[in-house]
Amino acid sequence: MARILTGIQSTGKPHLGNLLGAIIPAIALSKQEKNESLFFIADLHSFTTIRDAETLKENTYATAAAWLAFGFDTNKNLFYRQSDVTEVTELTWFLNCFTPYPMLANAHSFKEKADKLSCVNSGLFTYPVLMAADILLYDAEIVPVGKDQMQHLEMTRDIAGAFNHKYPNSFVIPETKVDKRMMIIPGTDGQKMSKSYNNDIDIFLSDKKLRKQILGIQTDSTPLEDPKETENCNVFQLYKLLATDEQTTNLKAKYAAGNFGYGEAKQELFEVICDKFSDEREKFNYLMENKNIIEDELQKGAEKAKTIAKEVLNRVRKNIGY
Ligand code: TRP
Repeated sequence: MARILTGIQSTGKPHLGNLLGAIIPAIALSKQEKNESLFFIADLHSFTTIRDAETLKENTYATAAAWLAFGFDTNKNLFYRQSDVTEVTELTWFLNCFTPYPMLANAHSFKEKADKLSCVNSGLFTYPVLMAADILLYDAEIVPVGKDQMQHLEMTRDIAGAFNHKYPNSFVIPETKVDKRMMIIPGTDGQKMSKSYNNDIDIFLSDKKLRKQILGIQTDSTPLEDPKETENCNVFQLYKLLATDEQTTNLKAKYAAGNFGYGEAKQELFEVICDKFSDEREKFNYLMENKNIIEDELQKGAEKAKTIAKEVLNRVRKNIGY
């Protein structure tokens, strides 16, 4: 049995890129019988940039609703909000005292954020230490992450290794594994789909608004009657990720034949999204109108998470001499 841990920073409603690239594969992994999955919403990490109480809460609920709508089993697994398990902040301090300053100063993601943001607070700087605490507090063995989080995971291993060297048997060192299923999904302009690039597709919108987003996908200016390329077409690339092999082959043939416009291709993409995700879209909206259900799930998860967290933290406190 492997204990798998995944966290997602709650920056808003998960978009198609988050779903296909991270949430759906993580849920599939959690369904394997031999695994136990811990999934949490990293709302303490969100506080490095979000300073509005309503937004912070809404983002957490929207993230949680997406996981629930896509069928994450909260009885078999743990599902919680990072800020509900306050033990993580104490562990962050212990780990801070074992984290060399230059390691943080060299973090790619910090340098990138520091260049972009006007407010560069220390929370952004120590972000990877909180992330290490997220993982080590639960004796997580496997942490599937996208490529962009690899460096953070290496830091977790380094910090835990240094700590264990001084205080043996404090932490389980997590395995570094880039999960190939954690894919990068192209957005409406072909770049990585991201809210910050404003190129995302939000499947939880109403049909009308969703259709509008899909119509906004950028395409080239090949005339209607000409055959079209599929390789560089954003519409086709998204379609391929969602449709069956047969549907994909059919669409490819239409591209090759000519007399088939991008508007029609977009309509097919819209329909495949509506078909594929009709239950999940309904469930998501139901949960967002009944947030007490989400809240109950998170509370239940926090109870279970705290049991593990307290045990691990006690072990570490004892080792340190508290
Ligand atoms: N930093 C991660 C991201 O932005 C989110 C995260 C926070 C996380 N704590 C974690 C991921 C612990 C895995 C494990 O994607």
